[in-house]
Amino acid sequence: MQRLNNKALLRDKAYINGQWCEAQSGARMPVLDPATSEQIATVADLDGADVSLAIDAANAALPAWRRKTAKERAALLRNWFERIVAAKDDLAILMTAEQGKPLAESAGEVMYGASFIEWFAEEGKRVYGDVVPTHAADKRVIVTKEPVGVVAAITPWNFPNAMITRKAAPALAAGCTIVIKPAEDTPLSALALMVLAEEAGIPAGVINIVTSSRSAEVGQTLTDSPIVRKLSFTGSTAVGKQLMRQCADTVKKISLELGGNAPLIIFDDADLDRAIPAAIACKFRNAGQTCVCANRVLVQDGIYDEFIKRYKVAVEQMTIGHGLQGTFDQGPMINAAAIGKVEELLNDATSKGARVVTGGERHPLGEAFYRPTVLADVTPEMRVAKEEIFGPLAPIFRFDTEEQAIQMANDTEYGLAAYFFANNLGRVWRVQEGLEYGMVAVNEGILSTEVAPFGGIKESGIGREGSKYGIDEYVEMKYVLIGGIDK
Ligand code: SIN
Repeated sequence: MQRLNNKALLRDKAYINGQWCEAQSGARMPVLDPATSEQIATVADLDGADVSLAIDAANAALPAWRRKTAKERAALLRNWFERIVAAKDDLAILMTAEQGKPLAESAGEVMYGASFIEWFAEEGKRVYGDVVPTHAADKRVIVTKEPVGVVAAITPWNFPNAMITRKAAPALAAGCTIVIKPAEDTPLSALALMVLAEEAGIPAGVINIVTSSRSAEVGQTLTDSPIVRKLSFTGSTAVGKQLMRQCADTVKKISLELGGNAPLIIFDDADLDRAIPAAIACKFRNAGQTCVCANRVLVQDGIYDEFIKRYKVAVEQMTIGHGLQGTFDQGPMINAAAIGKVEELLNDATSKGARVVTGGERHPLGEAFYRPTVLADVTPEMRVAKEEIFGPLAPIFRFDTEEQAIQMANDTEYGLAAYFFANNLGRVWRVQEGLEYGMVAVNEGILSTEVAPFGGIKESGIGREGSKYGIDEYVEMKYVLIGGIDK
């Protein structure tokens, strides 16, 4: 942390009602560098009682915040955006220190995160209602959109910045206030964002950050509260289902961005010069720890051997190291347990006939480092075909026909992102129409942007984030009937 230009960005307290505060119990939790397991900070470790105070603060701040005009809120959001951009380098250092991703990726995420604030500052001004052609001469029908109220956001460690701004920006732009529970592993990025929000002039109580290691207790407090009218969660499908059940008692509006099992399909007519680097980025970005990373690489017969040969060379050129000690393509995984899952899946696959093309073992750099790995001759019976890997392991499956590729791609309960490489225009249309996914990228390996709706179908989630649609998750529609206008 010596490298931070602005040391004030490093905070170790939670933020409730405009105050930096300790847990009432005095508890604190460690923040570790995943590359070394060394403790880099401790932060306040809040419990349910603390979180209730944050909910009350968000509720108290709501009337004044929703009364502001969209333009007034936009000015504050724009101010926040500009401060984040100016602090990009420091925010990236903090992120790499607590999350492990290479510094360039962290800087990229900071800008990606900031883009949601810039975007929704503008979109907030365009939350239009409707005047509906009337059904009776003496009546008028109008539809207005109102902020949903107090929002709770529970965010993951893999994107410690952007998953916060992707929720907070539309919430605030719509006139909602928010309580954010950042991941236990990565609270420093969230607190630094809060420093900048405070400097930008966001009023007390509008954003509250509750750092905690007691995820279940905090989740229960947020979902039990009748004051909280909306929950937005990014994380695993198992936890998403549990939170959804908990939200049922108070019938909250929910957005869930959950797990994925993304297919990346390489057809015979693909341009491999384009597909190979895209397949590297799609699989190995953030050490494979994103819910939209390719989970299965499906390659057509005619190009199978050539793809594997070239992919192996490209994967073996990747550099690995501690993101604050040099320029690398891949950092550590979040912890040794995450590597354990990758090893389990690899062992299952090889015991059933899969072949290690490259990698397949831990890296000597430390217990959280794993070599980028390619497995060939993987089949649908292996666990890796069904389970989210969340690590730097690319399993390659062989297919024959287009129909078979679509069938294999859709053979999962998930439906977040899918990718394919093909040049035949008819095939491009047929395959994108056949894929049961919320997002499909054609001849591209990365599809995230603030201008497009991010989200999944099936067990990958509910709702969309980003884009002109993202703000709908934070407003309620009100139908107003005005009668007797003939008198
Ligand atoms: C995620 O993995 O949860 C989000 C990935 C992205 O926004 O690109």
